[in-house]
Amino acid sequence: MQPLLYGDLVPWYHLLDPVADHLEEATAYQEALERAATPRPETLLELGAGAGNNAFFFKRRFCCTLTDLSEAMLGSPARGRGLRCLEWAWDPDPGDDRYTVDYAFPLRDGVEMKAVHDQHVEGLFTRCTWEGVLAAVGYQVEVKPRPFDDEQTGTIFVCRRP
Ligand SMILES: C[S@@+](CC[C@H](N)C(=O)[O-])C[C@H]1O[C@@H](n2cnc3c(N)ncnc32)[C@H](O)[C@@H]1O
Repeated sequence: MQPLLYGDLVPWYHLLDPVADHLEEATAYQEALERAATPRPETLLELGAGAGNNAFFFKRRFCCTLTDLSEAMLGSPARGRGLRCLEWAWDPDPGDDRYTVDYAFPLRDGVEMKAVHDQHVEGLFTRCTWEGVLAAVGYQVEVKPRPFDDEQTGTIFVCRRP
């Protein structure tokens, strides 16, 4: 099921995830791609480009093609709105590789207020599983830190065919 954040809540998305917060993350991707690719990469295909927050920085360096499953995410942000967010990550089944993130959003549209709950199932596979699967289909895999926010770091898998 598609999370509300990438559907009905798209008009508020830019308030939750502002472009300016993506400089460090986009720079990490760019540096990883530039170190990995010879000759110097000129084009970039982003799957799941969302609101284009990383792409805002990528397009200074690459000729970009952006795609997303959600048509709404590729539109322009709406203005005159406000949002607050409570995020709660928890693990309903410690025996699998997934976890749940629940969001409570009070949303303001002009003078109208409403509250919305959204649930995301995240995690999918462990880092070890990703590395194994990518190596099994012939990639040389290098793992780099992905700056995420002040508290968290994600993972970038840089995959090369020898
Ligand atoms: C966290 S947002 C993306 C953020 C984006 N990289 C940016 O820089 O703003 C995740 C996006 O992935 C998209 N998405 C999720 N599953 C997808 C799939 N299977 N194919 C393409 N896009 C997908 C969602 O619609 C959403 O826009």
